[in-house]
Amino acid sequence: MIIVFGSIGLDIVQSVKHLPRPGETVLTADYVMLPGGKGANQALAAARAGATVRFAASIGDDDFGQRALLNLDLAGVDLTDVVRRGRPTACATISVDSVGENQIVVSSGANLDTVAEQLNPAAGDLVLQQMEILPSEIWAGLDLARERGARTILNAAPYQSIPLAALAKIDVLILNEVEASMLAHDLGLDTSDLPGVCGGVQGRFDTTVVLTLGAGGAMAFAHDEALQAGILPIRALDTVGAGDAFVGAYVAAQSGGMALADRLRWGSVAGGLACLRPGAQDGVPERAAIEARQDEITITPISI
Ligand code: RIB
Repeated sequence: MIIVFGSIGLDIVQSVKHLPRPGETVLTADYVMLPGGKGANQALAAARAGATVRFAASIGDDDFGQRALLNLDLAGVDLTDVVRRGRPTACATISVDSVGENQIVVSSGANLDTVAEQLNPAAGDLVLQQMEILPSEIWAGLDLARERGARTILNAAPYQSIPLAALAKIDVLILNEVEASMLAHDLGLDTSDLPGVCGGVQGRFDTTVVLTLGAGGAMAFAHDEALQAGILPIRALDTVGAGDAFVGAYVAAQSGGMALADRLRWGSVAGGLACLRPGAQDGVPERAAIEARQDEITITPISI
């Protein structure tokens, strides 16, 4: 089973001609309110990819919370460990410009009340976390997962500094270029060579490191192989949540026992298809859609 321990919220998505500069007001005609939060998006992506998923998170006792849970409920995600808190459900304001670039501000609300005690992993489970809850609870989640014999996956988004002791407890670390660059900075490594950084982190902490590169595809560095994945030939409409779709599908493939190359194929297809619909969850594909296009993803070895 995959246990996603992380954030949930409601996204207020606005289409703008251009993203506002500091101090600038930008007018737009309308907005949509959609379920979001990196934890919820990843739980949904894993469930739609066919995995059995439990979600541990916090919402407020409010209408936003109910709306935020809707897609997860429909996808059959186990919501037993979602707790209602005193603070309001998290809310993100997302502006997307005419070329699909975005700007996001997240008000964390009840996500800050999420605690590791909500996690109940068993041996063999995959515990998937992101970085939109308190870091202390993320590290406690790593400890708990390890103690119970579960495997740990951290998507370091949005990036917060990761202690060396925590890095040593991560089985799979997934980052984008910005996050990898921040990690490199923290570790005193060369930020101009991100594949080198990821390969180095793999060796030093014995963790599989996956680097997502947007239109540049993805790379994975494991102890016995390093691979580069291409992308689907698509024209991106909205990249919000594409990273979450990648992570959810990648972890679903891992829970199904697939090899590294196929995990990358699943992640890349899901991330690509997620860019074809607005918002973080509407474009997240079902398993059949991933399987139908997985052979379009080229996989090549990286020499290290
Ligand atoms: O990764 C996309 C997500 O980031 C959005 O759904 C928004 O809620 C923010 O947390």
